[in-house]
Amino acid sequence: MSRRAKAPSSPADVPRGVASFRGPVAELAKVRKTVNGTTILNDVSLGVHAGEVVLIRGASGSGKSSALRLLAGIDTPDSGTVRLLGEDLSETAPRARARLIRDRVGIGFQDPLLDNALPVIENLYGLARVNGHFSEHRRADRERLAWLAETLRVSHKLHGLTAVLSGGEKLRLALGRALMARPEVLLLDEPTHMVDSPGKKALYESLTQIVASESVTVIIVSHDDEARAFAQREIVFDQGRASSS
Ligand SMILES: Nc1ncnc2c1ncn2[C@@H]1O[C@H](COP(=O)(O)OP(=O)(O)OP(=O)(O)O)[C@@H](O)[C@H]1O
Ligand SMILES: [Mg+2]
Repeated sequence: MSRRAKAPSSPADVPRGVASFRGPVAELAKVRKTVNGTTILNDVSLGVHAGEVVLIRGASGSGKSSALRLLAGIDTPDSGTVRLLGEDLSETAPRARARLIRDRVGIGFQDPLLDNALPVIENLYGLARVNGHFSEHRRADRERLAWLAETLRVSHKLHGLTAVLSGGEKLRLALGRALMARPEVLLLDEPTHMVDSPGKKALYESLTQIVASESVTVIIVSHDDEARAFAQREIVFDQGRASSS
């Protein structure tokens, strides 16, 4: 997309592995999932290519979060295939699957699950540090942290307590945490849940800026009008079935 070519790069934007295989970076092929006798995903197929920003939308209960959980490796289908970054998740050993998701995928779901007792900055880098993707001794990592905090408009709050952040600030902080390790794929499920209109606008402005300067593939589930403007393409879920629009 042309908007990407014009945007400044984030600090230390490192080469990614996405060029090493062809085809979608995230894919569901003929996926079926039944829970307690009810089919919640019925022969769902979808594919998202590197660098795409795709919105998944549809009525409540249509299967959007269930599909995203499969792509995040949190859940498994009854039949069909889930492929992520060239790997068939059902063929990948649990440890390797966990490593793939941890190292190359950013996940932001409805509830940000932040540690309210910690300073904001520690929620931002903590997970990445545990996973070996952030060190305060690496200049590139410090610069990335500062750039994300600035872009997500939480830089003036970094040394304050997480508990006092507003709902919108907490969601932007959770988004920063998901992006800290330079993921190739970002999976977001209703990232503006319970946020007012200015809060939504702020989050999508930040996301647009980040996506414009990084080669990250985004799959976002949302009911927001702002998300429709942000995405390049939509996949609509309807009673456990998916169709591109
Ligand atoms: N683990 C589960 N056990 C029982 N039912 C489930 C489970 N997971 C999902 N469902 C059901 O599957 C259907 C699809 O759920 P899902 O959370 O994917 O919907 P959604 O499209 O994300 O809806 P919303 O917009 O409300 O978040 C719902 O009817 C839900 O109750
Ligand atoms: Mg949902």
